[in-house]
Amino acid sequence: MDSIVVTGNGPLSGRIAIAGAKNACLTLMPATLLTEEPLTLLNAPRLSDIRTMAQLLQSLGAEVSALQDGKVLAMSSHALDNHRADYDIVRKMRASILVLGPMLARDGHAVVSLPGGCAIGARPVDLHLQALEALGAELDLRDGYVHAKAPSGGLKGGRVRFPLVSVGATENVLMAATLARGTTVIENAAREPEIVDLAQCLRKMGAQIEGEGTDTITVEGVERLGGATHRVVTDRIELGTYMLAPAICGGEVECLGGRRDLVGAFCERLEAAGISIEETESGLKVARRNGRVQAVDVTTEPYPGFPTDLQAQMMALLCTAEGTSVLEEKIFENRFMHAPELMRMGARIDVSGGTAKVHGVENLKGAPVMATDLRASVSLILAGLAAEGDTMVNRVYHLDRGYEQVVEKLAGVGAKIERVAA
Ligand code: UD1
Repeated sequence: MDSIVVTGNGPLSGRIAIAGAKNACLTLMPATLLTEEPLTLLNAPRLSDIRTMAQLLQSLGAEVSALQDGKVLAMSSHALDNHRADYDIVRKMRASILVLGPMLARDGHAVVSLPGGCAIGARPVDLHLQALEALGAELDLRDGYVHAKAPSGGLKGGRVRFPLVSVGATENVLMAATLARGTTVIENAAREPEIVDLAQCLRKMGAQIEGEGTDTITVEGVERLGGATHRVVTDRIELGTYMLAPAICGGEVECLGGRRDLVGAFCERLEAAGISIEETESGLKVARRNGRVQAVDVTTEPYPGFPTDLQAQMMALLCTAEGTSVLEEKIFENRFMHAPELMRMGARIDVSGGTAKVHGVENLKGAPVMATDLRASVSLILAGLAAEGDTMVNRVYHLDRGYEQVVEKLAGVGAKIERVAA
């Protein structure tokens, strides 16, 4: 199993190109199941999660070709010859549940394995299932699988009111509603940029959708959807991660393709910590010019709040801040697994339930550490950039799920980082 070795070596400078969003691409890909015509995605990120979703779609009968070195995904689903998403693929990636709504809407039946437990909390799929039931789906949970059927005549529009905001459940029911008879109103919908991106793509395919980006989305079902070509939105989590690189070890980095509206709450916290952020023609330029960063408090919330997917990386920065920061994790329980690893590098952190108190130290020290999940692993790399000596991050397969060319991108702005085979 490969490791990544990072050696702290001072300020960074240069440009990093930000890829298309993993999480947007993972919901745009299943949209191909809604139509017999081709759906082409541009600006796709080259990640193992994307390959897993391609495999899943292929197992259902879709054709998926990665062109231009994986940046373009050409998909088409003339006919689905299998309506069962197997445990072997679903267990690898929770986003697999997103094939349920489209398959059900298109052909009136689907069987999808329940995603297994996940390291960052229980993460059930009850909201996905309740929302599809509101569209008339009949669901039966047997042998670890959801067996779903639409009423005769297909799904019908309905009112869905989520008790809590769920990105995935909003995406699943939004896709299903495009082909349901009549009107669907989704209340307390997620407002993430990935939802907006999905709605825009579905509209190009012929769907009638209003209100994406607000907490109420209205969908007027149509008889059929057609093909489309769509460019995947910029990955706001990759963007935030690389914005933290110069913040943590000094210097100035321009993140190409970055947009402030994608990471507004995050920018506000970074600026409060003393980091300068400038909007340029090509993206966002981030610099740390004067001394240590200041402690800031952070609470994760659904968009437009501070994203949970940037919490671990922000913690890495705050480990070296002047003063004590309080981080509150409100989306997932048990999402501080990076804290003990950061402590191996000399960080001072007290975790109690969903709150972490980070007492800033002047210097971190390199150490062997273990990546526990996708965002945790990149937070350890960021910490390594600021640490004295070598940090060896083990179990980097997590990283390959969500960050393309992390070594090349950071080395390109002057970081001392390499991947070593075990
Ligand atoms: C998506 C993102 C993930 C991000 C998360 C929150 C993808 C592929 N993944 O995950 O990177 O961290 O949004 O921004 O887009 N919940 C339930 N029942 C459900 C569904 C969710 O209780 O049926 C809970 C979850 O346990 C969690 C909260 O709702 O506490 C939010 O989860 P959700 O927004 O659904 O996250 P995902 O869509 O899985």
